[in-house]
Amino acid sequence: MPVKVFFIGDIIGKPGRLAVSRELDRLVDRYLLDLVIANGENSAGGFGITAEVALELHRAGVHLLTSGNHVWDKKESLDFVKDVPYLLRPANYPEGTPGVGSTVVTTAGGTKVAVLNLEGRVFMNNLDCPFRTADREINRLREITPVVIVDFHAEATSEKAALGWYLDGRASAVIGTHTHVQTADERILPHGTAYLTDAGMTGSFDSVIGMRKEEAIEKFLTQLPKRFEVAKKDVRLNGVYLEIDDVSGKALAIERINIGSV
Ligand code: FE2
Repeated sequence: MPVKVFFIGDIIGKPGRLAVSRELDRLVDRYLLDLVIANGENSAGGFGITAEVALELHRAGVHLLTSGNHVWDKKESLDFVKDVPYLLRPANYPEGTPGVGSTVVTTAGGTKVAVLNLEGRVFMNNLDCPFRTADREINRLREITPVVIVDFHAEATSEKAALGWYLDGRASAVIGTHTHVQTADERILPHGTAYLTDAGMTGSFDSVIGMRKEEAIEKFLTQLPKRFEVAKKDVRLNGVYLEIDDVSGKALAIERINIGSV
């Protein structure tokens, strides 16, 4: 039986959360989804995530939230990350970091799906090696289930592409997040791993990657500190639909999704 998964690209602030609550039921019906995953690291005010916002998204139908470098932006996240079972932080943070970087979710149909969150190192934080962390985590997760989905939260396309090839045949899907711009390179690699460099953004497109464009332009012009605010217009929901064989763990289908005017 194929397991049907929808992965939602970075949810930005309230406009992004509203888009999820408005559209998700329709997507679940249309694709007969078994599992919904979303990157929610900027779902609270455009920076970070709170326990309340995580719960709101969970109640809207997101089974599991992944994150990245912004997961620590709200001070309180250091406390609640470890207490919210449906929220991951990247697995390659140093030992002792609160929270976990992978988990196994059981769908309503009884399929076990492992989800692994990793963060890139190119133009980002100086973390443990995501490739070696992936080796270790995937070996462990594949003892439980062959279905393993990776959210690789990274800046550089090259690092994302390299991890896709490195995990081909060992992960069911390697989906990139963080750049907020959906790429058009979805494919299934030769050994059965579905790959997409970036799932895109769920938030305002009348913006610079989700933030009001006026302040973003000003910041580039002046190089002075600037307070960014979440943009509100032209909200779209971006993500990717995955179909995975629950016995082999190989991807059967990958489809990019970009819903406008939500
Ligand atoms: Fe990020």
